[in-house]
Amino acid sequence: METRICPPTEENLRLAGEILRAGGLVGMPTETVYGLAADATNPKAALSVFAAKGRPADNPLIVHISDLSQLPGVVRQVPERAKKLLSAFWPGPLTMILEKAPAIPAEVTAGLDTVAVRFPVHPVARALIDAAGRPLAAPSANLSGRPSTTTAEHVLHDLQGRIPLILDGGPCQVGLESTVVDLSRGPAVLLRPGGVTREMLEAALGEPVALGKGVMEPLPEGEKALSPGLKHRHYAPRAQVVVVLGGDAARGAYVRAHAREDARPCALCLEKNRGLYGEVPVLSAGSTPEDYAHNLFAALRAADEKGYTRVYAEGLDLAGVGLAVMNRVERAAGFTVVRLDDAKEDRA
Ligand code: TXA
Ligand code: MG
Repeated sequence: METRICPPTEENLRLAGEILRAGGLVGMPTETVYGLAADATNPKAALSVFAAKGRPADNPLIVHISDLSQLPGVVRQVPERAKKLLSAFWPGPLTMILEKAPAIPAEVTAGLDTVAVRFPVHPVARALIDAAGRPLAAPSANLSGRPSTTTAEHVLHDLQGRIPLILDGGPCQVGLESTVVDLSRGPAVLLRPGGVTREMLEAALGEPVALGKGVMEPLPEGEKALSPGLKHRHYAPRAQVVVVLGGDAARGAYVRAHAREDARPCALCLEKNRGLYGEVPVLSAGSTPEDYAHNLFAALRAADEKGYTRVYAEGLDLAGVGLAVMNRVERAAGFTVVRLDDAKEDRA
């Protein structure tokens, strides 16, 4: 199958809508990352999403809507806490786990009785859902295990020959996947940090939001995951990623010393820290934590393209979007984190 990248013209949106209604797959830009979209009411279409990505069958998909009127077709009920969050953050980069409505097939939710639902703000995503005339199930449009895709070219790189069409909406604004919060069992539990931060959720709910077990640390052996996604390896380039935490001087010295042992090392760092790494080539994370989020997946992909074999990634403070950036980087590193305060190296 030939894969085409197309601008999101009215005609291409109509064509994409037809492909989706016929059970086919379309690469869809959103404000977070690109999605691999399929008709969320069609079990066969959902199965072909798993096949195209090589996704483990037990990892459910997120259902995307373009209007609140579609919500009753996706979820059985909307609890008070969910109402507060949807009025504060929808449309936008927030996914809520709620009880599933019967119209959503078990193939989409991997057999769970809950469903992940999100109302994206990106105009092309919304236009595509409208063109299909039904909610769209869409995981991130990468091969399973690899960094998510934040440009149409990244989608082509991973899924060429596996899908007919990618709508090009330019680079994604946030750059990390949506925040996932479970509201299906009472108080909110954060399952994946993202652009809507924990602090923002707590302010909107007026109560603390717990961080799910296994979100910021490896899940203990044999423990049941709160979200199937927590079990699987994610976001990993071919290069080995090592997260380095600690003061500027200590970090610089550690990377300069250890980089000598590597064939092709590089450092992923904020612009202000470029000077710390001496001869070690730098991949720029930009100037702010938001830039780091925006640039992370593209930088991990660039590391592979440039042939680097090890990426020393700078840590960030866990406040605000820093929590989401560290969640992705630590997973990309398989939780290989160097903490320079006690010079201890954790390998999980
Ligand atoms: O920003 C995003 O959310 C992007 C764009 C395309 O919208 N999508 C995305 O999908 O990141 P994906 O499939 O890569 O991540 C979905 C996450 C997985 O970790 C999955 O385990 C979790 O959501 N999830 C989905 N349904 C769930 C459920 N019913 N209960 C718990 N976790 C669920
Ligand atoms: Mg994903």
